[in-house]
Amino acid sequence: MRRKLIAGNWKMNGLRAGGIALAGDLAGKCKAEAPNCDFLVCPPAHLLISVAEAIAGSGVALGGQDCHTAASGAHTGDMSAEMLADAGCGFVILGHSERRADHGESSSLVRAKAAAAERAGLTAIVCVGETADEREAGKALEVIESQVRESLPETAPETAPEAAGASLVVAYEPVWAIGTGLTATPSDVAEVHAHIRKLLVELYGNDTGSAIRILYGGSVKPGNAAELMAVGDVDGALVGGASLKLDDFWAIGRSC
Ligand code: 13P
Repeated sequence: MRRKLIAGNWKMNGLRAGGIALAGDLAGKCKAEAPNCDFLVCPPAHLLISVAEAIAGSGVALGGQDCHTAASGAHTGDMSAEMLADAGCGFVILGHSERRADHGESSSLVRAKAAAAERAGLTAIVCVGETADEREAGKALEVIESQVRESLPETAPETAPEAAGASLVVAYEPVWAIGTGLTATPSDVAEVHAHIRKLLVELYGNDTGSAIRILYGGSVKPGNAAELMAVGDVDGALVGGASLKLDDFWAIGRSC
């Protein structure tokens, strides 16, 4: 049984006071009321160390939003997976559609970043998803399949013995659903997640392929979370806007 993961991608939002307060409030709620899911926050880089302190001992996990492929070196403005781990991260989001679009990241680069995450002991959350044009052209599954085949690590990720799942997470985020208020229908989500599951089992074998959590992302809100989280092979959510509001993020976790 895969325990659900509710991950907050803060993107480029949050200054120190608000970000630390938000993380601290979430940590306080998790300590007071053991949630039924795993919570993860992925703040912008300048907040990582302060947020690590704010969530210490609460069970809330910390993640970065990207990493470089190298461990160190002359790469101005970049951050390595080792640096994220050093800041207290256990996770890193890779290949988000905003990075694929804004920074021209290819699936092969995302795969190299996933290898860097593994080297540093981080769990990579590898994002895939089709654009509106690709869905309208009936190519959603084809696009997602090639992103999965080309972005995920070549070698099987480690699996933890129980609910914690594997040291790899896949996030299905239809590009047209991100920040738009539009969400994929439960039947579309079910179709895509089942297809990703089939690919994971093909790539890594039944045990590992079944242990990898597959998140849905794209306008997840308290009002649609329960319906989405009930879909087969949906093992949690990657939440953007609603992760910046404590009550909304908590309510999404409560829907698991
Ligand atoms: P929204 O929840 O704001 O649509 O963002 C989704 C997302 O991109 C999470 O990575």
